[in-house]
Amino acid sequence: MKKIAVIGAGTMGNGIAHVFAMKGYSVTLIDISEAALEKGMSTIAKNLDRMVRKERITEGDKLSTLSQIATFSDMQKGVKGADLVVEAATENVDLKLKIFKNLSEITPTATILATNTSSISITKIAAVTNRPDKVIGMHFFNPVPVMKLVEVIRGYATSDEVTAQIMELSKGLGKVPVEVKDYPGFTANRILMPLINEAIITLYEGVAGVQEIDTVMKLGMGHPMGPLQLADFVGLDVCLAILRVLQEGFGNPKYAPCPLLVNMVAAGKLGRKSGEGFYDYSGTGKDLVIAKQFV
Ligand code: 3HC
Repeated sequence: MKKIAVIGAGTMGNGIAHVFAMKGYSVTLIDISEAALEKGMSTIAKNLDRMVRKERITEGDKLSTLSQIATFSDMQKGVKGADLVVEAATENVDLKLKIFKNLSEITPTATILATNTSSISITKIAAVTNRPDKVIGMHFFNPVPVMKLVEVIRGYATSDEVTAQIMELSKGLGKVPVEVKDYPGFTANRILMPLINEAIITLYEGVAGVQEIDTVMKLGMGHPMGPLQLADFVGLDVCLAILRVLQEGFGNPKYAPCPLLVNMVAAGKLGRKSGEGFYDYSGTGKDLVIAKQFV
C-alpha cells in the first residue's frame, strides 16, 4: 500500500494522517470544511514541532512529513488512487453509512475501506457497501501519534486476507494491533466506558470528589489520567454516545449512563473541547482546575 486517504480532519483524522505521513505514505486528508482542513494541518505541524523540540525527529523530517499530506474538500478527488481509505468523520451512524455508500461507488472494488469508529457496528457499515469483505475497523487512540494501540475490528464478513493486511500495516506504523470481533463497544470501549461511568456514579453519589477519584486511579492503579480527566479528554458527549450503544446493543441496564453525565452533556459541558467538564480548561496554566460545580 502506498496511498492512504483519511476522511475527517478532526482530532483523530489529523492524528491518523500524521502517523501515515511520518512513515512515508502519500496521504490525502479529506474534509468538507476548508476551515477544518486548515486547523487539522496546523495541529499536525504543531505536533511535529513538539517532536522536533524533543529531538525525536529533525526539522527535515517534519517538512517531509508535511509534504506527504495533500488536503481535499472533494471526497471523490481525495480518494482517487487510494489503496486504503480510513474514515474518521464525526461519530454519527447516518453520516458514516452515507460516506461508506458513497465510497463504495467512487472507489475501485480493490480499495480497502476502514473506519475509525469507536462504537458503531462494522458489520452494519459494511452492509451498505459492495465489498463487505474489505470493510474493517481500524480504531486508533487519542493522541494518535503517542498511543501504541490499534484495535482492529473484524466485521461479520471481513476476510482473513484484509484483516492480515491491516494488522501488518498497523505494525509498520509502529503500532501494536489487536484483533477483536465486532460486538458493541468492541473491546476497548466495552471496558473503558463502564469504568468512566462508574467513576461518574461515584462522584454523583458523593462517595468521593473529582480530585479524589482521579487520584485513586492514577496513584493506585497507575493510570496516566484519572477516569474523570480521561472522560473530559475523550469528550463527555462521546462517552455518553458509546454508553448508549452498549446499553442498546446488549440490552443490559448495567451500561445505563449516569444521570450526571446525561445532565452535563445537555448543559453543553463536554469536557476539554468545550472548556469545561469535570475540570475547567478556561485558564492557560498547566495545573488541572476542578470545575466550580464540583468544588
Ligand atoms: N501529539 C504528539 N505527541 C504528543 C501529543 C500529541 N497530541 N500529546 C502528548 N504528546 C507526547 C509528548 O510530546 C510527550 O512525549 P515524550 O514522552 O517523548 O516526552 C508524551 O506524549 C507525554 O506528553 P506530556 O509529557 O505532555 O504529558 P503527559 O505525560 O501527561 O502525557 C498523555 C499525555 C500521553 C495524553 C497521557 O496523559 C496519556 O497517556 N493519557 C491517557 C490517554 C488515553 O487513555 N487515550 C485513549 C483515550 S480513549 C480513545 O481514544 C478511544 C475512543 O474511542 C474513546
